[in-house]
Amino acid sequence: MMPRSALPLFVVLALLSGCDDMTVQPKADPYSAEANMVTPAQDTVAWGDTASKPPPLTLALIQRGQQRFRIDCTPCHSELGDGHGMVVQRGFPAPPSYHIDRLRQAPTQHFYDVITHGYGAMYSFAGRVAPADRWAIAAYIRALQLSQHPPPAMVSR
Ligand code: HEC
Repeated sequence: MMPRSALPLFVVLALLSGCDDMTVQPKADPYSAEANMVTPAQDTVAWGDTASKPPPLTLALIQRGQQRFRIDCTPCHSELGDGHGMVVQRGFPAPPSYHIDRLRQAPTQHFYDVITHGYGAMYSFAGRVAPADRWAIAAYIRALQLSQHPPPAMVSR
């Protein structure tokens, strides 16, 4: 009579024999051109994407810009745009303040372009900030600049 423990072993061996086919079944070639074709996601922005005319300046645009600015830019540029963000306080190269003359005189397009292409030590945000939001952020930077250099007529009564 067969020892009791031999039966399960026999069953296991019988089942395993069915697995042999796995080594010879058709497989996808991970190096084929087809497998390596990259399909870009539909909701991302292509690298270096340039586009779009500036949208009309509205309060909603500036508010959207403020929200996006706080997410993407304040870590380095700070809420005020003076270039003393938290990442800079931890050692990242300091950006210039937005309130220097050169950047106050720069066209709004310049801010759009810096977001798109990066600038010096600053990497591009083309993949994270959609073109419409680049204009929104640029508009908000303009508002920040105005907040630090209001024309006298605006503050005197
Ligand atoms: C990781 C840090 C970091 C983040 C985040 C960042 N920047 Fe910068 N930014 C820099 C640095 C550093 C410079 C200076 C680069 C240089 O001169 O080499 C700079 C420079 C700039 C300038 C000035 C360019 C000039 O003409 O001197 C603008 C405008 C600017 N950034 C806008 C933005 C905006 C808008 C965002 C958010 C979408 C942003 N940055 C996010 C680090 C950052």
